[in-house]
Amino acid sequence: MKVGIVLGSIREGRMGEGVARWVTDLAQGRDTGVEYELVDLKEFNVPLLESPVVPGAANKQYDNDQVQEWSNAIDSFDGFIFVTPEYNHSIPGAFKNAFDALGSEWFGKAVAFVGYGASSGVRAIEAWRLIVANFQMLQVRAALEFNLFTEFPEGNFSPEDRKIQEAANMFTDLEAMLKKVNA
Ligand SMILES: Cc1cc2nc3c(=O)[nH]c(=O)nc-3n(C[C@H](O)[C@H](O)[C@H](O)COP(=O)(O)O)c2cc1C
Repeated sequence: MKVGIVLGSIREGRMGEGVARWVTDLAQGRDTGVEYELVDLKEFNVPLLESPVVPGAANKQYDNDQVQEWSNAIDSFDGFIFVTPEYNHSIPGAFKNAFDALGSEWFGKAVAFVGYGASSGVRAIEAWRLIVANFQMLQVRAALEFNLFTEFPEGNFSPEDRKIQEAANMFTDLEAMLKKVNA
């Protein structure tokens, strides 16, 4: 089973890169038979959704090459960890656009959340929980939340020690959910 760790900020100088790499390193150090891979949204250049075909009805076939590439990547995973910043009390527009661009590639899969921001990304995570419900995604309750003021000294990601155990708990719950879904 494969889990995509989706880095959802595409900003130059984004703080999310350090967060996503830290999460990926920890996840890849596990010996549970689940594969973890970093998926950097910035590398896909997903265009703004303009297609006349509603993605949910596209049957994973898209007229735009970049969207097709994004679809192929997302479709290859059994579950996800969304690494999401909080923008204006919600999720980043580029990440939402990339989510909206696809349909059944997400459907019924497991997802866990890692948030960060001035308010530790809590509102972004809660916003995501409502959105992913539309694709009947199965959500892990345990989430990681990182505070911009205390865990990014001089822009370098430096999580609190307790976050290592919290991350392990989140991975364990996600892996259990994946096994249930794919049993
Ligand atoms: C457009 C924008 C809006 C933001 N709004 C919020 C907000 O409402 N709440 C919050 O806690 N942080 C907010 N922030 C702070 C971000 O969470 C913080 O800058 C974080 O590092 C952004 O992630 P990134 O650097 O990976 O893009 C905002 C940042 C941006 C760029």
